Amino acid sequence: MIIAVDGPAASGKGTISKALAKHYHLPHLDTGLLYRAVAHTVQRLELDPTREADAVAACDFDELTLADPALRDDEIGKLASVVSAHPLVRAALLQRQKRFANQEGGAVLDGRDIGTVIAPAADAKLFVRATPTIRARRRHAELQARGAPTTFDQVLADIRARDQRDSSRSTAPLVPAPDAALLDTSFLSIEASVEKAIALVEARR
Ligand code: C5P
Repeated sequence: MIIAVDGPAASGKGTISKALAKHYHLPHLDTGLLYRAVAHTVQRLELDPTREADAVAACDFDELTLADPALRDDEIGKLASVVSAHPLVRAALLQRQKRFANQEGGAVLDGRDIGTVIAPAADAKLFVRATPTIRARRRHAELQARGAPTTFDQVLADIRARDQRDSSRSTAPLVPAPDAALLDTSFLSIEASVEKAIALVEARR
């Protein structure tokens, strides 16, 4: 069984995907990490993230980069959204994601274009969303807990900018697949979100 989970930043898609993977005993790939690894490599090599050729050169990162906790930084998330808009960057990461999706026994993948591009034939597709204000509140609390100096207004502005960039790019924009089930987590606890996600998957497979 292939489960595709898409949605914007801080919608809850990562937490839900991990829980689904555990519930169904499937391997899980957070595809955002791949774009974050490219961003991190661009930064480390002092390349220009807005230049497609520079960003493509950074797609050749090694496996160890994926385990670097620095990938979780908000700065890297922003940079990931810039490098991920280049069609050749997306093309460079495509096969790796397709291979993961189509492995024997199935998989759970989360990202922005899993149900539309990476695994269009997925058995279950979820599009997870929540209002920008609620997502900013979650992300702000997370950053504060990690001691990052940032204000709620800044986090909200960043979330809106990232949504805008991810939804308006011409290659693989952030849009729900026509056959995706929508899951709004704005007013749901983590437990309730996971329960609902499992019910939606059950109804679809
Ligand atoms: O999900 P996460 O915040 O880690 O993703 C970082 C950025 O990577 C996103 O803002 C998006 O621009 C990009 N991304 C993407 N396609 C995916 C996953 C992430 O374009 N499948």
